[in-house]
Amino acid sequence: MIHEKNKKLLKVYIHTFGCQMNEADSELIAASFKKRNFEITQDLKEADAAVLNTCTVRQLAEDKAISMIGRLRKWKKLKPSRKIIVAGCAVEKLGNKSILRKFPFVNLTIGAKSINKFDAALNDIIGKATKPKLLTETNLFNSPITAYITVMRGCSLKCSYCIVPSVRGEAKDIAPDKIIKEVKMKIKNGARELVLLGQTVNSYSSIYKGERINFTDLLEIISKIEGVKRIRFMSPHPLFFKESFFKLFKQNTKIARHIHLPAQSGSDRILKLMKRGYTKKRYLDIIGALRKADKDTSVSTDFIVGYPGETEKDFNETLKLAKEGKFSFAFCFKYSPRMEKDCKREDLIPKEILKKRLDILLETIKLNSKEIFNSRIGKIEEVLIEDKNYGRSSANFKVKINKLFKPGELQKARIVKNEKNTLHGKAVI
Ligand code: 5AD
Ligand code: SF4
Repeated sequence: MIHEKNKKLLKVYIHTFGCQMNEADSELIAASFKKRNFEITQDLKEADAAVLNTCTVRQLAEDKAISMIGRLRKWKKLKPSRKIIVAGCAVEKLGNKSILRKFPFVNLTIGAKSINKFDAALNDIIGKATKPKLLTETNLFNSPITAYITVMRGCSLKCSYCIVPSVRGEAKDIAPDKIIKEVKMKIKNGARELVLLGQTVNSYSSIYKGERINFTDLLEIISKIEGVKRIRFMSPHPLFFKESFFKLFKQNTKIARHIHLPAQSGSDRILKLMKRGYTKKRYLDIIGALRKADKDTSVSTDFIVGYPGETEKDFNETLKLAKEGKFSFAFCFKYSPRMEKDCKREDLIPKEILKKRLDILLETIKLNSKEIFNSRIGKIEEVLIEDKNYGRSSANFKVKINKLFKPGELQKARIVKNEKNTLHGKAVI
């Protein structure tokens, strides 16, 4: 028998499409491989196994994932012992059978809802784990000082454009004890900043020590854990902001001074069609309250242009919000029909108009964002060092400081210039 030590170290290539939820799931996937004596590689050529963690939020994301599965056919032919695993949302949408029928060389398919069964599924195609879980579950993909913590899975809202509820299922909150255990482990492994993840993360509600707690309570509990220097979260939904949150945000500066709050549209008529449950005014009131609690809070957002039936007037409302919101950045997308019935709608916006609106919105965001970056000049940013003189500020700006520090240190810097969306600052002692 080959001694454990002499066993050849195998390599796994993991490609993640889409959002942070998927990245967090890829960390679990990576941990399962590490337990089986695998190393993570960024080079497909040298890999013995490949995992594609797929996304289906827009057609483009789905198409990219599917075409990459196709490209793996050759890769496997070169070395037939190689294993191919397809995971994530596209598996839920298209179905295991349909993927295996189209790509019979795939060894395993596992949907986003079954990610907790991933480890067991690997037993069949790779073999049993040889190392304990605790040693392997670490912050694998992000900067070593930042760790993702999934606090809820799925989504129970029914926004009309969104496929997430159907591929990830109803919202399920993870028990606080489990979250706390994971935070402690990731802190022990070097994390100093946490990103709490959930599709509607601020709708969090669970039982802790026999009592019901909400998202604000969860933030407070986590901020008291030793070693936690900063907490971010993604993505909150305008429907679930409570007064208690604004109060905690004001007093507890471990909560990052940045919020990513998807607006989707600035037109009340479109927001209603999208079933978002808020108006443009309510949206602006929320970010206003955050900026009242701390005037230096930065806000970023998501917009969808060309929702079916969107008129020039609706689009102009979105442009207005893009200016009024003073966003540090925004992800802007063309509407992409996800359900078959939506592909046939008569009020679909023509391609050329989609492109035109997207270009105009992107330009508006770019100009505004430049102003926001420049407005930080002269201000003091609190930077969590990632490497040498580089880190991210609490308001989520990339910052370079004029001195070297250790990773994980918090350092204040006075900003002197903005260069290509990186702020440069002088250390404040
Ligand atoms: N078309 C275009 N963009 C979409 N998003 C979600 N569904 C769609 C869709 N069908 C965008 C939203 C969301 C982000 C993650 O993706 O802006 O906030
Ligand atoms: Fe989709 Fe987000 Fe709406 Fe949930 S809240 S349905 S994930 S857009």
